[in-house]
Amino acid sequence: MRRQLPYLVEKDPRFPENLEHRKHWEYAQVVVGLEQLGALHQDALVLGVGAGHEEAIYDLSTRVRWLFATDIYGSGYFRAGEADARMLLDPDHFARCPYNRNRLVVENMDALDLRFEDRTFDAVYSLSSIEHFGGLAGATRALDEMARVASSRQCRL
Ligand SMILES: C[S@@+](CC[C@H](N)C(=O)[O-])C[C@H]1O[C@@H](n2cnc3c(N)ncnc32)[C@H](O)[C@@H]1O
Repeated sequence: MRRQLPYLVEKDPRFPENLEHRKHWEYAQVVVGLEQLGALHQDALVLGVGAGHEEAIYDLSTRVRWLFATDIYGSGYFRAGEADARMLLDPDHFARCPYNRNRLVVENMDALDLRFEDRTFDAVYSLSSIEHFGGLAGATRALDEMARVASSRQCRL
């Protein structure tokens, strides 16, 4: 959490103490979890779905070959926040932690229709988003899509 959110460490050196937030925990957990699964290496392709401009995509870009961040940027309920369309043109603008700008690919994409071949990615994840994909039917469809594009050989989340 301290690596992903250095601006909060500057704000309070005891961070995450006193500034606890569920999303900070979630961002850190996905990186630690993928690490423990052996999914983070210099040849790995990782996909974030409904990723917005979360810190995890930036942090992961330093650990994999390519990190693909997808969202319906510029539309939907979150278009003025997490899904800000500027992310498509200038992801640097939203970076708040060290990252590799040459390994971060940002694409506009509906979670229910992922435009990738089957078994493309070593790992696929989604944080704080699946509940926004259109109820149970949308969540189920998105999970099917995420499983489809995840490699069965290495790791399926
Ligand atoms: C609460 S935000 C979370 C964003 C990011 N994962 C984070 O933790 O900051 C939910 C995100 O889901 C995205 N979203 C909603 N419906 C979507 C869909 N059908 N396909 C892809 N993303 C979608 C929104 O645009 C928004 O960015």
